[in-house]
Amino acid sequence: MSKITIAIDGYSSTGKSTVARQLAKALDYIYVDSGAMYRAITLFALQNDLIGKEQEGVDKAGLISLLPGIRLEFRKNHETGKADIWLNGENVEQDIRKMEVSSFVSMVSALPEVRKKLVEQQRLLGKDKGVVMDGRDIGTVVFPDAELKLFMTASPKIRATRRYKELLEKGETITYEEVLQNVESRDLADSTRKDSPLIKADDAVEIDNSDMGEKEQFERILNHARNLIKGE
Ligand code: DC
Repeated sequence: MSKITIAIDGYSSTGKSTVARQLAKALDYIYVDSGAMYRAITLFALQNDLIGKEQEGVDKAGLISLLPGIRLEFRKNHETGKADIWLNGENVEQDIRKMEVSSFVSMVSALPEVRKKLVEQQRLLGKDKGVVMDGRDIGTVVFPDAELKLFMTASPKIRATRRYKELLEKGETITYEEVLQNVESRDLADSTRKDSPLIKADDAVEIDNSDMGEKEQFERILNHARNLIKGE
């Protein structure tokens, strides 16, 4: 059976990665979380004092000069069955989800040099099709010829509530207001940056899941994907 490419874009905390992971499992495709790659570069910048509360912004020249030495890999975690992201030989899957990384990731992902490096790697990961990738520019820039493109949205308050619960479960000390503020400021930064802003591809199917159950949403998308694969 022929394989297709599935691109899932949308705002933060719209459940893109949950749907993407479920789809990849059902179709026996690989799943790539492109946001994890931008988060890992941000973590690298934080670890190397190239960004942080003390700095005005990101030390662009410093980060750009170190980019060639940054190695990112996805490796299967045999305990969870999911692919974890590794940064220069270290599993950073947990660290990249922290609020500190979320606070700076839009700044790092606005740098064209960072995007160029990651887009190249993303295209390599998807070169044989049979891939579900989620992010902000997958259907517009990384795989403009993807056979199935989804654009996911939900109201900021609903997204912040989902994210807040996740962070609390992970033991972070944070308020709902801080999460809502981060969700809104990231959406604005991601949608207004010059290089590859978050926009819906003309041929993407828009899914607003504010009032839709996870199961219903997944079944609709899986049906759609299967019909495309069968060539209907
Ligand atoms: O999907 P996420 O929330 O983990 O992504 C983190 C950030 O990375 C997001 O705020 C914007 C950036 N990003 C991007 O610019 N392009 C992508 N393809 C994926 C993520």
